[in-house]
Amino acid sequence: MKTVLSAIQPTGIMHLGNYFGAVKNWVDLQEEYRCYYGVVDYHAMTMPYDVKKLRENTWDLITSLVAVGVKPENLFIQSLIPEHTELGWIFNCFCSYGQLTRMVQFKDKSQQVSDGGKEDFISAGLLDYPVLQTADILIYKAHYVPVGKDQEQHMELARDVAHRFNTQVGKEYFVLPEPLYTRTPKIRSTADPSRKMSKSAGEKHFISVFADEETIRRQIKSAVTDSGDTPPGQMAEGVENLFELIYATGHLTAYEQLMDAYRIGQLKYVDLKQTAADSLVTMINGFTERKKELNADKRKLKDQIKQSSSEIRKVALETLREVKDLVGLINI
Ligand code: TRP
Repeated sequence: MKTVLSAIQPTGIMHLGNYFGAVKNWVDLQEEYRCYYGVVDYHAMTMPYDVKKLRENTWDLITSLVAVGVKPENLFIQSLIPEHTELGWIFNCFCSYGQLTRMVQFKDKSQQVSDGGKEDFISAGLLDYPVLQTADILIYKAHYVPVGKDQEQHMELARDVAHRFNTQVGKEYFVLPEPLYTRTPKIRSTADPSRKMSKSAGEKHFISVFADEETIRRQIKSAVTDSGDTPPGQMAEGVENLFELIYATGHLTAYEQLMDAYRIGQLKYVDLKQTAADSLVTMINGFTERKKELNADKRKLKDQIKQSSSEIRKVALETLREVKDLVGLINI
C-alpha cells in the first residue's frame, strides 16, 4: 500500500473552500492508501499569531477533521512528534539558503507582514518553513502528497532535499515524493465571485463548514450571480460557483436539471440558489451534528489523538534513527 501524507495549519475556521479543495480529498484517499494527516501547529507559529488561541485552534481543527470524516487513527499533531523538527534541522543542512529565499510563498507572506503596518516582524521560521514541511513528508517516506498548486515550489524543494540527501549519503534512502493535484472544485466567495473563498477577506467571503442553517441560507440568497460584465456566451462566475457547490455536495440530478434549464436559457436564479442552499444545509447539518457529539466527550477524542500520534511517532522515530546513522551522528 502506498503512503500519503498531507497537513493543514490550525489557523481558525474551516470553510467550504478548504473542505472541497483539500479535506474532502483526504477523506476519500483513506480508502486506498496508508494515510498520515497532520495538524501542523509548528507551522502556525511562523506568522504573527495569538498564543492564547493556538492550542484551542489545534483541538478545534482536529475535531472538525474527524467530524467531516478523517479517521482519528490517521491524524497526528505535529508538536507531539518532535522528530519532525529534529529531521527539519538535519534537512536545513541539505537545503540551500538561496532556494529558500526564492520561495514565492515566503515573498508573499513576508510582504503581508510588512504591509500589516504596526508589526514589521518576519520570523526566520517563515523562511525555514518549507524545510520543516519537507521533514513532515519525508519522515513517513510518503509517495504522494495531496496539495494545492500553491505548494508546487515547496514540493519541488522536498524532492531536491531528498535527492541531495540520497546523493550525499550514497544511497537511495528517501522516496522522491510526488504532489497529488487532484481536480477539486475552486470555490469562490459568494459575495465577490471574482475572488476565491477565503477567511482573510472577511466574514462575507467565506462559509464555514459548521455554519448554522440561517447563515447559509442568508449567504446563498445574497450571493452575487451575474455582475453584468460577463462576455456573451460565457457563464457568469457567480452562477458557475453555485453550480460548483451543488455538484460538489453530490446532488448530481439536481445539477443536471438546472444545467439543462441554463442551456435553453430558462434558468431561474432563485431555483439555483434554493438548490445550492438546500444541498449545503443537508451536508453541513450532518457535520455539525457529528461535531457536537465529539465535543460532548472531548476527553475521549484527545486520548484517541494522543494515542494515534504516539503510534505514528514510531514510524518517525525509526526514520530518524536510520537518518542519524546515515549522516554520521551519534546513535545510541
Ligand atoms: N504548507 C502547507 C500549507 O500551508 C501545510 C503543510 C505543512 C503541508 N506541512 C505539510 C502540506 C506537508 C503538505 C505536506 O498549506
